[in-house]
Amino acid sequence: SNRIMLGPLVAAIDQGTSSTRFLVFNAKTAELLSHHQVEIKQSFPKEGWVEEDPKEILQSVYECMDRTCEKLTQLNIDISNIKAIGVTNQRETTLVWDKETGEPLYNAIVWLDLRTQSTVERLINKTPGRNKNHLKHKTGLPISTYFSAVKLRWLMDNVEKVHEAVLSHRAMFGTVDSWLIWCLTGGKKGGVHCTDVTNASRTMLFNIHTMDWDPELCKYFDIPMEILPKVRSSSEIYGLMKSGPLTGVPISGCLGDQSAALVGQMCFKDGQAKNTYGTGCFLLKNVGTKPVMSDHGLLTTVAYKLGRDKPACYALEGSVAIAGAVVRWLKDNLGIIQTSTELEELAADVGTSYGCYFVPAFSGLYAPYWEPSARGIICGLTQFTNRSHLAFAALEAVCFQTREILDAMNQDSGIHLSQLQVDGGMTSNRLLMQLQADILCIPVVKPSMPETTALGAAMAAGAAEGVSVWSLTPEDLTEVTSEKFEPQINPEESELRYARWKKAVQRAMNWET
Ligand code: G3P
Repeated sequence: SNRIMLGPLVAAIDQGTSSTRFLVFNAKTAELLSHHQVEIKQSFPKEGWVEEDPKEILQSVYECMDRTCEKLTQLNIDISNIKAIGVTNQRETTLVWDKETGEPLYNAIVWLDLRTQSTVERLINKTPGRNKNHLKHKTGLPISTYFSAVKLRWLMDNVEKVHEAVLSHRAMFGTVDSWLIWCLTGGKKGGVHCTDVTNASRTMLFNIHTMDWDPELCKYFDIPMEILPKVRSSSEIYGLMKSGPLTGVPISGCLGDQSAALVGQMCFKDGQAKNTYGTGCFLLKNVGTKPVMSDHGLLTTVAYKLGRDKPACYALEGSVAIAGAVVRWLKDNLGIIQTSTELEELAADVGTSYGCYFVPAFSGLYAPYWEPSARGIICGLTQFTNRSHLAFAALEAVCFQTREILDAMNQDSGIHLSQLQVDGGMTSNRLLMQLQADILCIPVVKPSMPETTALGAAMAAGAAEGVSVWSLTPEDLTEVTSEKFEPQINPEESELRYARWKKAVQRAMNWET
């Protein structure tokens, strides 16, 4: 048969909170050639708890790989051109498995999960001055339910199997990247137990200055260091695929999904920023090779380290827990839409929320508040309010939350971003993009290739030493084409709506106390 000659290809596994994807790019042009996506089930066994099945996550990766390879073969593209695989993942989500049986010892506790709220409150109460930023100088993070250490502590305290496995030295801890890389490189038969610096920086056990696990932090959470994965750079060969159609291909890139999006959006310079609309919403700004601490509720996190001998770059991050998740909630819990795309149509029907404000603080509020006891509210209702207004208010909520983060970033640096680069699933919603520009009062710029998270992981994998099919030198990077949304309403109206939103947020705060 006539095989198409394309040169080297690089693949990426994008394991997000809501779905898994496998994507294959042309390393010369960054063009996306084929991909496959599978949705991931979430379970909510108790109020505030969010879990996923580690085996389902792994199976979804294999399924996406198989299907994508089939599609490529149908396109007459030789899959032996795939030279490397990058992994990018939902961050913080916590797993523990048995290294001898290869079996997970509990479900994955998803980053959004609130079961550790009382533990977090206890920890904060013990710090001098009840300071949630007690560990920030080392970790860049506030003590919160969000990060892995408290979830791991909960597993060790509450799951007998985990407790026993730790005592008998059979337990392995990992975020989703570690679980996948360990399984894909052979699992109990010699799998590689590692993570990268970006994922490690979200655990609260990692010192972002020394760039290693911190014995004092591990002691603080009483976590034995032997269960932790080895920390590696974001771009190097970790191991080789042990089964499936891509057996033997190196896994050579690993980045938390928000870091990967920063790389995929080519934000390599100090001051460049991107906002990704996934399950949550995450605005990251590259701050260069020295960590910068925020005074306005932002996190300091490792942005990337693209090679063992390359310097680490840091980012300031504003995290919003609920963005796309609010759409899923309107669909699954309220049933007012059947598909996500219906939301845009519904909201566009009215073009306003008619004074209805929706604060989706389902998992407490993240940046800039870090208030675990906040809960969601819908307010400003009248008999006139209908589901279209609610749909509009949900979209507006995503935009207002982003505005709060952008404000915090501008205040921290004193420099105002003149436009915002965006990506992620929700950016296909044009109404949302226009609303975002209106509420930020700056243009919103969306790349025409929306899979920037996967692209970033593919770039890291392709650039790794020993692979070297993708050059990251600025001159060699492909120009990205994009679309721009300009603000269309006047700033006074925008400010008025934003002020109302802030009032609504105050009502959502401290709901449980
Ligand atoms: O910190 C959580 C984040 O990594 C999840 O990303 O795209 O699944 O919302 P996403």
